[in-house]
This record gives sequence, structure tokens and C-alpha cells, in this order.
Amino acid sequence: MRTLESWKDKALFTPGPLTTSPSVKQAMLHDMGSRDAAFIETIRTIRAALLNLAGVSGNAYTAVLLQGSGTFGLEAVVNTAVTGGKLLVGVNGAYGRRMVKIAEMAGIPVSTVEVPENEALREDDFAQALAADPAITHVSICHCETTSGVLNPVQAIGHTVYGLSRVFIVDAMSSFGAVPFNQEECHIDYLISSANKCIEGVPGFCFVVARLESLLACEGRSRSLCLDLVDQYRGLEGNGQFRFTPPTHALLAFRQALRELEAEGGPKARGERYRANQTILVEGMRALGFEEYLAPALQSGIITSFLCPEDPKFDFETFYSLLSAEGKVIYPGKVGNADCFRIGTIGRLFASDIRDLLSAIWRIKTEMGFRAGTERARGETHE
Ligand SMILES: Cc1ncc(COP(=O)(O)O)c(C=O)c1O
Repeated sequence: MRTLESWKDKALFTPGPLTTSPSVKQAMLHDMGSRDAAFIETIRTIRAALLNLAGVSGNAYTAVLLQGSGTFGLEAVVNTAVTGGKLLVGVNGAYGRRMVKIAEMAGIPVSTVEVPENEALREDDFAQALAADPAITHVSICHCETTSGVLNPVQAIGHTVYGLSRVFIVDAMSSFGAVPFNQEECHIDYLISSANKCIEGVPGFCFVVARLESLLACEGRSRSLCLDLVDQYRGLEGNGQFRFTPPTHALLAFRQALRELEAEGGPKARGERYRANQTILVEGMRALGFEEYLAPALQSGIITSFLCPEDPKFDFETFYSLLSAEGKVIYPGKVGNADCFRIGTIGRLFASDIRDLLSAIWRIKTEMGFRAGTERARGETHE
């Protein structure tokens, strides 16, 4: 095994943490005091940039940064905002189910609108569920369900939720920064994402872009100290600082990552790069005989699930290890109703990286000697 000193970074074809640029990594080479004016200015700049990316103004919205991974952000929103209410969760994958678990653990009443993992959520189902249950106060969905890679229709569902006067929570973890949308037009009260996804920073914190009126109505309601979003907001607004030790290095990296997102042309251009990566990937994988789990019309450019070949000579762990030995990291599958593996096309990856990955997959497929096809037609896996 290599020691850390001789470690060579692998290309991460995963849902995160992701491959980052050398300049993002370089930006972390500073030890900064959390009360330093330059650091407070970094936080201020990041919060303003996030509002800008969400397409909203600081008069009506605020960006709250919070220590921890993306799930901490989801749990903070549920524990701050839904106390005393009932949550309706759209479920078409593991991250929808995680939201249900978060609510259950907080003792919050929860119900679901569920569709199979190879389908997108439908706004009509939400309209029906909300009409049938006046106790529901909040609705949450995942924008990109990273379990499969399906993109849910955030604007249409937001329109329905708003029309029926409920609060709308969106887990935009793996879409924010690469799938352009306007938070206000989607009627999103709480948008949650994290540093190490499409903005291409490093792990260490998550953030919530919240509609101020909704957030401030939750003052004093959180059941958790660390995850109290209003208190965190008050801290950031008061002295510009985190309440507790901030991930200074990750914030410095993130400020650089935001500059690089802007230089690339913003979420639209970034989304186009990811989509181009994904198109090359799918065409190459099909040519090698692999099949996608999702119908192309539902597929985001973020991550793609491929059906595992049925040939007994295929074994995911061996396939994974051989690719990893070539410096390419893919991801296991997460859908419940089909045997899949996933390949992410986000992060600092370009067409040449995808082509290198495809060449490695071709070599390893030949070495392992498996046939890539599967007998199952895509629809037959979901009876
Ligand atoms: C849609 C979605 N929600 C939540 C999470 C959880 O984020 P974390 O692992 O950073 O807690 C992820 C992670 O990939 C995700 O893709």
C-alpha cells in the first residue's frame, strides 16, 4: 500500500467528495483565525455569492452556512422549521428516505408520496396528498435524487406546494451550482446543499438558502443547539462569524471554488460541461455493452446508474478495485430494485477524463472476460 507521502490523487467519478482543481486545494494552505477580519470577509463573500447563485436577493433570503456534511443541513432544516408541523416527503430514492428518517428521529409526523426509483416525482401526487391532509405544513423533495441520478421537477412541484400554502424544502445537494434554477420562481423556502458537490469545494460544511420570513418564524423552536438554523443565522448576521469553530480551510477553498464557477460561466456552463461528460460516458458505456438504469429522458448529467452485467465473471468489487488501481474511483449502486453501479460526471472532470475512464473500463472488461449486457429490459426490473 502507498504511504500518504507517495499518494497520487485518483480521479473521482463519484457523487462527492469530488475531484477539485489544484487552485482550490492550494487555497487551503493558510491558517486563519476565525475572528480575523479577512476570514469574516470570506464568510460574507460566500454568503452573498450563494444568494446570487440561487438567483435571490438578500432582502428576502439569507444564506446560512453550517458545519458538517449535507445531511447536517437537512437535519438542521427539519429540526428548526418543521417542529410543530407535519412533513410530506417525496420519495424516489435513498435521500428521500433519509429525510423521512430525519423527521421520524425528531418525533415529527411524516407522510410520503412515493414513486419507483426509476421514475420522477409528479406534481399531481403532491396536489392530491396536500388536499387530502390539511395537517401537512411542509413538503420536501430531492432535486437530483443521487441514488439513481433522476432529476425531479422542482419548479412544477414548488408551484403546487406554494399554491396550497405549504412550506417547501428542497435537497439540492447534488444539483445546486450545475442545474440552473431560480429559488424564488420554484417557491423554495429552504434550499440545502453542501460545499463538496457541484460548486467543487472540499467537504466541511453545508449551507441553507432560506426565505427570511419562513426562517424567522422558527425563532426559538429548534430542538438542537448545533442544528438551530435561526441561531446560526443570528450569529452570522451579528458578528459575521460561525457560532462554533468554523471549517476555515474548507471555507477558503470554497471561496476559490466560487471564483472558478464564475470564471467557467456559472451554473449553466458548468451544467453543460457535466452534461457533455455524461453524454460521452453513456455513449462509450453503451458501445461496451452496458445499459443505464434510467430512461434517458429522466437522466441528469450528475451521476448515472448502470445495470451490473449478469455474467458471473462480473464482480463489482473486482471491477472497482482494478479501476481504482488505475487511478479511477467509481461508486457502488444505491437503488433498491436493481443491481447497479454508479459513475459520477461532476467535479473537476473533463471529456478527456471520461475517455480515459472508458479506456480503462474496456481494458478491465477484457481482462475480467465478462459480457456487459443484461437480459433484463429496463422496465422489467421494477415489477
Ligand atoms: C441528494 C443528496 N442528499 C443528501 C446527501 C447527503 O450528503 P452528505 O453525505 O454530505 O451528508 C447526498 C450525498 O450525496 C445527496 O446526493
